[in-house]
Amino acid sequence: MRKILPVSDLAGSRATVDLIYNAKRYGTRGTLVLDLSRTRAVFPNGAVGFATALQFFRRGLFNIELGTPSKSVLDAHVLNPSPASSYEAGTRATNRLWEYTTPEQASRLTTAFTRAIEDNVHCGRGVIDALTWCLFEVMDNVFQHSNAASGYVMMQIHPKSQQCAIAVGDSGIGIHKSFIESGVHPAKDAYEALKLAVQERVTSKTKNMGNGLYGLIRVVGLNGGELEIRSGRGALQFADWQLQGGVSLSTPLMDQENHQGTLVDWQLHMGRAVTLNDALDTPRATPSRLEDVEDEYGQIRLRVSDFEDEIGSRTAARNIRIRLENAISDSTAPVVLDFGGIAVISSSFADEVLGKLVLARGMDFFANRVRMRNMSSTVQGIVDRSIVQRVQEGDEDHPAREVP
Ligand SMILES: Nc1ncnc2c1ncn2[C@@H]1O[C@H](COP(=O)(O)OP(=O)(O)O)[C@@H](O)[C@H]1O
Ligand SMILES: [Mg+2]
Repeated sequence: MRKILPVSDLAGSRATVDLIYNAKRYGTRGTLVLDLSRTRAVFPNGAVGFATALQFFRRGLFNIELGTPSKSVLDAHVLNPSPASSYEAGTRATNRLWEYTTPEQASRLTTAFTRAIEDNVHCGRGVIDALTWCLFEVMDNVFQHSNAASGYVMMQIHPKSQQCAIAVGDSGIGIHKSFIESGVHPAKDAYEALKLAVQERVTSKTKNMGNGLYGLIRVVGLNGGELEIRSGRGALQFADWQLQGGVSLSTPLMDQENHQGTLVDWQLHMGRAVTLNDALDTPRATPSRLEDVEDEYGQIRLRVSDFEDEIGSRTAARNIRIRLENAISDSTAPVVLDFGGIAVISSSFADEVLGKLVLARGMDFFANRVRMRNMSSTVQGIVDRSIVQRVQEGDEDHPAREVP
């Protein structure tokens, strides 16, 4: 028996459900052939569950053949997720599937995701740290609760809508089973278990805090984003502070006993402020990613010399400007841009970082929120000139301004 399964897209759970159903039906007595040659849309909410199930069946010696995939499937590494152990700083982390097997790998990927956002998306106050925290929590739950050896993760940034989409999956025991095994909170079905899991201080492990999924749902709610958790036959959706979901008896399981699997998928609007302190009702503090760049006066100090390798290039400069703007929006005090150790910078760097910042936000904003320190007179001259020129000329998004 040979069955060909065409997969038209990896958006939402349809393809994963089809894969699980057909792999169990044809993968042991015959062969299941997956045709992804025409698969178009590839989103985390479809790709992560699909990759998780596919790896589970292939490692379990089910007969699954893969035809030549479409470019979008290939680019996203859906059929062969990249091992996080091979991740190198500076390479692309977004838009592809990762398999991670240790907490160190999870944390390295999280840092890479955070950096991709910090350098590319204009973010509302707090949102980067809130997202980073959620990633840590959800990725770590795989090690804490799933009994699976690895987790799968994918993050996508949609620049037009300024949204960020993430999904984390595993082929472990599932949330219902983890509650049943603990015996602390009996949940009568998979949906009850999901509703318990997102409540404050509800955990199946007494040593844990039960904050992870609660914090996630609060962050999503405050941000106006969306969240979906699927585990076993249960599904829970959350948007506009409304919870929905239920149990679907027709949902096939990878394996009833030990592999019901879990998928946590969420989207945030990066331009909308949301702080972890509000989400978790804790007092406001400096975002943790900025703590190590804080100086003794509590000011955030970005050292230009840290970008030494990049200060010649315009693309890198754009990333630095966005990082600077994100630091400004997350900090109450002015951000210090420290030029110590820099003898000279290129005018294109000065233009891209400072000229464009002043053009976009205005001189008053710049003077109030940024302090430039330790500038040599050469650097000072280059910067002044770049700012004046850029403000006089404008760019495609901003008209020229009067130079005061
Ligand atoms: N990937 C997963 N696999 C199985 N169970 C999970 C998974 N993620 C979360 N859970 C269940 O949901 C509960 C709540 O998770 P969370 O809010 O992160 O709190 P904590 O991790 O502190 O227990 C966990 O105690 C566990 O029972
Ligand atoms: Mg947790």
